[in-house]
Amino acid sequence: MVEGTRDAGRRLLVLGAGPAQLGLLGAARERGLFVIACDRDPAAPGFRLADRRAIVSTEDEPSIERLARAERVDGIVSPGSDWPVGIAARVAERLGLPHPLEPGQAVLATSKMRQRERFAGAGVPQPRWAVCRDLAEAEAAVAEIGLPCVLKAPDRQGQKGLALVQEPHELVGAVALAVAASRSGLCLVEEAVEGPEVTVNAISAEGRFTPLTVTDRETADLPAFGVALAHVWPSRLPAETVMACIDAARAAAEALGIERGPTYTQIVAGPDGPRVGELAARLGGGHDAELCRSALGVDLNALAICAALGERAEVEYGERAGGACTRFLVAPAGVLSEVQGVHEALAAEGVLDVRVYREPGYIFAPLRRGSDRAGAVLAIGADRDDAVRRARRASERIRFETVDAEALV
Ligand SMILES: Nc1ncnc2c1ncn2[C@@H]1O[C@H](COP(=O)(O)OP(=O)(O)OP(=O)(O)O)[C@@H](O)[C@H]1O
Ligand SMILES: [Mg+2]
Repeated sequence: MVEGTRDAGRRLLVLGAGPAQLGLLGAARERGLFVIACDRDPAAPGFRLADRRAIVSTEDEPSIERLARAERVDGIVSPGSDWPVGIAARVAERLGLPHPLEPGQAVLATSKMRQRERFAGAGVPQPRWAVCRDLAEAEAAVAEIGLPCVLKAPDRQGQKGLALVQEPHELVGAVALAVAASRSGLCLVEEAVEGPEVTVNAISAEGRFTPLTVTDRETADLPAFGVALAHVWPSRLPAETVMACIDAARAAAEALGIERGPTYTQIVAGPDGPRVGELAARLGGGHDAELCRSALGVDLNALAICAALGERAEVEYGERAGGACTRFLVAPAGVLSEVQGVHEALAAEGVLDVRVYREPGYIFAPLRRGSDRAGAVLAIGADRDDAVRRARRASERIRFETVDAEALV
């Protein structure tokens, strides 16, 4: 990769160097920015794209502030991960840096509970919901909302503390799981909305919301409730349903006061219309910006970087694909010994990128959450189904050899 020079000297602090941050880290490097990345995991794959690496948790606000001051950064960004979105906004404010979000907006964007309150006030369509402290309150909420319902921690992402409750006896475990994961000790009980799900990826500038890709989110079977296995563009839903989802995502951004930067909005197209799951004021963590670039020719990573540096940038459309698909890879549980077939997958028709998230020695748990996924393939095609087929074919070429962890003891 040839490094640009126009930004020599400008410094960007990226919170996180995991799989979700790879795309933005690559784009920052391509722009010639001096990139400081932090992550608590010394083996984080994004570190190799950074000029400077700091082994600091993305949730350690005092250390991040010290790092930002010491490195004299020009901007801070948390692509693909939620909690640090608030940290980035607060540290930017304390350092007097330009930033797309004010701390208050960031707090709204990182709390599923506060979003529910705001959406209710603004009339944004959403599932029925209740905030609960314990099993008794959750039982009362279920009596109102009915089953199936979804239990979640209001301030987590990546399916931590998330569970679908179909039968009354499952509630006790789901409440315990959500409360244990919750930072506040509260849990959310939500109506489980039936229907296909989309993600609306957008960018806002000076209050103007520009929708980019609307992708179908294909999720795993239980017990991996809610875990995305593919994002597919364009959506298979009728145009008027897609438009209604875009309107709901715009209304969600307005309700939270988000005027600048990327948004990632999860929406279930329910029988009575769209229902907003949540809005994240950041890039999606499933390589959504890379899919956007391949689908529409819009460099969403670059736009997010501009927003983080306080720059104005126009959305420029480039070459469009007929269809595009990000398909996530899942490894058998156990200790990773070898990954085969990556070159063959990369050489397959329509494949633009293959990402393997883990190195040999990593212990894969059975698939329960997004972080258990092993990698991703991005493919384009003549239309969505062609892209899906190509991504599937490529992913079938990749084999994760794992050894049963217990056999090693
Ligand atoms: N009320 C609901 N009705 C139907 N499906 C839901 C509901 N809440 C969550 N889900 C499913 O679970 C997925 C994850 O939910 P949610 O975004 O609330 O959790 P999360 O921990 O933030 O996960 P992620 O990091 O993937 O966004 C959703 O994309 C959807 O598939
Ligand atoms: Mg979410």
